[in-house]
Order: sequence, then structure tokens, then C-alpha cells
Amino acid sequence: ANAQSRTLLLFGATGDLSKRMLLPSLFVLHADGLIADDVQIMGTARSDLDDGAYRTMVGEALAEFLPEPRKDDALIASFLERISYQPLDASTVEGFDALAERLGDISGGMSIFLSTAPFLFKPTIRGLKSAGLAGEMVRIGLEKPLGNDLASSQAINDAVAEAFPESRTFRIDHYLGKETVQNLMALRFANMMFEPLWNANGIEHIQITVSETVGLEGRHGFYDSTGALRDMVQNHMLQLLALIAMEPPAEFDATSIRDEKVKVLRSLRPVTPAETVRGQYGAGAVSGKAVHSYADDLGEASGTETFVAIKAHVDNWRWQGVPFYLRTGKRLAERRSEIVIQFKPVPHNIFAQRGGKLSANRLVIRLQPEEYVRLLVMAKEPGLDRGGLTLREVPLDLSLTAAFSKTQRRIAYERLLLDLIDGEPTLFVRRDEVEAQWRWVDAIRKTWADNAIEPKPYGSGSWGPSAAIALTERDGVSWND
Ligand code: BG6
Repeated sequence: ANAQSRTLLLFGATGDLSKRMLLPSLFVLHADGLIADDVQIMGTARSDLDDGAYRTMVGEALAEFLPEPRKDDALIASFLERISYQPLDASTVEGFDALAERLGDISGGMSIFLSTAPFLFKPTIRGLKSAGLAGEMVRIGLEKPLGNDLASSQAINDAVAEAFPESRTFRIDHYLGKETVQNLMALRFANMMFEPLWNANGIEHIQITVSETVGLEGRHGFYDSTGALRDMVQNHMLQLLALIAMEPPAEFDATSIRDEKVKVLRSLRPVTPAETVRGQYGAGAVSGKAVHSYADDLGEASGTETFVAIKAHVDNWRWQGVPFYLRTGKRLAERRSEIVIQFKPVPHNIFAQRGGKLSANRLVIRLQPEEYVRLLVMAKEPGLDRGGLTLREVPLDLSLTAAFSKTQRRIAYERLLLDLIDGEPTLFVRRDEVEAQWRWVDAIRKTWADNAIEPKPYGSGSWGPSAAIALTERDGVSWND
């Protein structure tokens, strides 16, 4: 059933994500001719707008959030023609009949995207079902947060499952829509040279960093009740970890890939308190600009972490004894998403007698803001070597931006929205994955609660609390800064 849905129904259509990401992405898909001409897009939210007022709002969002070269008036006008709007209070069943009537014939297939507050998920599903908007031709995309622990995520998943089978449920983790994240699979499985070493025999440790320079960004209620562990580790970072650690799937399809990812997620060893660091940003300077502390941004003291570092282990044969160091945080020194594969040293250094010192190979996969793969290899410094041999670490650099400079780059939501309306599930997260992720994260929160572990302060613009540095240094490892 890979036909493109003829209707896209967007819940939360006046929200921030819709304005900043979803509508601009849909516009780009429209402009590039990737959405069939007869596909209609209907927005819904509580605000009492008519089609005209909503189109004006969409036009303003495009003006603000589209990159300059894409602002084509004729294309924007034709995009707005696809768009309509139906006000709806999703918390009651009543409005859904009017919505169904307004949508009209959905026999051409409908994709629904829920970008709403999570407390609206259940009533929305109930309303959709009662109005006949959950039939076989309908699939549903769910934006995070899908709950805030295992129990609440199961409750949401159960409610969704009452109306939509797993095959028609598309859970978004926008990291999977990122080109460079998908490239992890190409790097590992389309090349011979990495995979034979990609295990505990060849690899010493792995680092995953997702650092941000932004702070709270006005998301007071949501962020303060969530924290870095649940906002970033539970989803994005564990998906990255799963893609790095999984066995080669037999085929590139949704079932094979998710089967391998979930095996990794289920193999995560429960973490001890000493293997985690919680932090919260204090005042400081980011990129030369003075910024407030988290408590000042929030307007009150808080016990929520804005930084977390974890030493994780995947308990299976391939990864026995290989630490996975994870860290993520707000108001850090740089915005950077990066994976570092630290290989083992060579078994014997034949250059030692001549003074040659070796560093073990290191593979750095930079996902953003730059996109590159850099392999650090040892090379001899040119010269006559009369005073001994000098070996140096030099980069074998692959800039993906340069290598594909003529190819249009897609942002995550362009890819994921198109996959949703096309019915292509590979880059969406299956229920068992989400639940395995929650199980591991819930256990970490429990050890924090049981041991009264509070966030340690760190200066904005730093790399987090000094305990995060100690976490790796204890093992003789340095973060790749
Ligand atoms: C979101 C988090 O899921 O991911 C945000 O809720 C975070 O707190 C964002 O800023 C990071 O995404 P990206 O694509 O900018 O790395």
C-alpha cells in the first residue's frame, strides 16, 4: 500500500512545530513536485480561524521560516490553494463529525499527523475513530513526546492501537530523518573496511555527543517537566546508539532494521548512579554572549537536568567491555552532533625503538552542523629521521557537504512527512523500540531518585559539569573536544 495519501490532516496546525518545520517542509515538497496535485492539506487546532485566516498564518510562517531562495510567490500561492482549516476542540468527541464532513471523501487515503500536546492524543484517537476517520485507508504519524515514562507511553500506544494497527502507526524521531543519520548505515554496511573491526576486538570505546548552545527557548512547562534525559537520550541518542551498535540487517527494510535496533535497545545494561552525570546550566557566555542560568530563564529554582552524561554498555557478544559514552546538554560550548569510534591500538608498535609514538585510529562522524567522516590515521612525518622517527596523526577527510555539493539536501521533516504520506515506515520507530528505550531510561531516573542525585551546576558555554569529564577520564578516555 505505497500509494500517496490524497489527504494530509495536521493536528496542532497553529503550533510552533507546524510553523517552523512542518509547513515549510510541506511547501518544499510541494515546490519540488513531490506531492501529487490532488493532495489536500487540512490543518486543525483549537483556534477559531477560517480558511483565509489560516492561509494568511501559513503564508507568514513561510515568509519567516523558509530559506531565502525558496520564497517563490507563485509557488506559495499554489501551495496555499491546497490548504484548508477546520477548528476543533480535540478533547471532546463532538467536533470530529464536522471534521469528517469537512474532509469529505477520504477513500484516496489519508495521513494524519499529530503534533499536539500529548494529553490530547487519547481523545484525538477516540474522536477520529468515532467519526470513521481511522479506517484502513488512514495512517497516523505521532510526534514526540510519546509519554514521559514507560507506563504513560504504553497507555498512549494502547490507545493508538485501538484505532490504528502498528503497520499504520508512524512514530517520529526526527533524528532518523536526518541525512547523516541514515548515512551511518551506508558507512557501516556499504563498505567492507569498517565492519570487520566494528566490535569489541577492534573498538576501545564509542562516544556520542549531541550538544546544543540554545537554552530553555521559552519551553518552560514542557522542558522543566522533561529534562535532558527524556528530551534527548530516550529518543534521539538511543536511536543513534542502536544504529551504531546493531547487527547488519539482512535487508534494508522496516522490519529487518527495526528488528536489529530493538535487539540492541533490549541489550542495554542498567546503569549505576556512578555511570551517570546530571547537570544544570548556570550563567555564563555562549559564543561570546552573556546568558542567564537555567533557574533565571525558568523564573524559579528547579531540580531538572539540562545536561546528562552516561557511560552505557550493550550487553551482547559484539560489544562486551566497550563503553558507550553519551552526553547531551543545553548551553554548551558548541552545537554539535558527533559520533566517535575509538579503535584499539595496534598489537605491537614496531616504531617504539626509534621513538615513534602511536595514537590508535579514531573515526569521527560529524552529523551536524558540518557533515563529515574523518578517519584519523598515523603517518610518518617527512624527513631523514636521523634523530628518530616522528609519526603523526593525520585526518583522512570526507566532507559529505563537498562530495555531494550539487545534490539538494533535505531536512528531516521533508523526508519524514513525505514518507508518511507515501506510507514508507522504515524511518519511523516501532512500539517495541520506544518501550525498550523507556525501560532503560526509567531505570536511570529511578536510580537518580533512590540516590537523591541532583543536577550539578555548570557554566553556560562550557562542556558541562566537571564530573562529566571525570566520567571518562577515570577510564583514561578524553571527550573528543
Ligand atoms: C528536540 C528536543 O527533540 O530536538 C529539543 O525536544 C532539541 O530540545 C532538538 O533542541 C534538537 O534537534 P536538532 O535537530 O536541532 O538537533
